[in-house]
Amino acid sequence: MVKAEVKGKILLTQEQILDKAAKLGRQISSDYEGEPLVLVGTLKGAVMWMADLMKQITLDTEIDFISASSYGSGTVSSGSVKIKKDIDIDIRDKHVLIIEDIIDTGNTLKYLKDYFLSKDPKSVKICTMLDKPSRRAADVRADYIGFTVEDLFIIGYGLDFDQKYRNLPYISYLED
Ligand code: IMP
Ligand code: MG
Repeated sequence: MVKAEVKGKILLTQEQILDKAAKLGRQISSDYEGEPLVLVGTLKGAVMWMADLMKQITLDTEIDFISASSYGSGTVSSGSVKIKKDIDIDIRDKHVLIIEDIIDTGNTLKYLKDYFLSKDPKSVKICTMLDKPSRRAADVRADYIGFTVEDLFIIGYGLDFDQKYRNLPYISYLED
């Protein structure tokens, strides 16, 4: 568990994230050894993490992106998810690894995982940069987790508040 107090406003540095991407990239490369893998990044939050991670994967890969949004009251996500941009690749009989920025309630990822499973892939797994388990509502878990964080509103390294801060080269949080 990453504690907010430790580094003040910076929760995780780029160096820590790159180290983790290297570690998980090695693990993924060994777990799928000899098998092609489709990496599907969730727009827009996962782009930085996906860029770091894919450089560390030594498999035969294809990449694609999906954009989904969950609707609910205010900033609280609901179980109702809508796909705004679908993947272009045919994933039938292929291993799929969803690359996610953060799992909060889990509603989005639960929906996406079931959606991909309906297309008859060989397998669907999840790699998330951050896991915020305190607010989990849906029954979904990641197979690869970068860091577990407290219940904070996280920004930076792809994550936004009102579409801002995605370009920060570190992970921070908003104070209310
Ligand atoms: P869910 O609640 O697990 O469905 O989360 C859906 C999406 O909300 C995540 O993939 C993020 O893009 C976004 N999200 C969740 N928590 C945070 C946060 O702390 N900061 C920024 N975006 C977040
Ligand atoms: Mg996301």
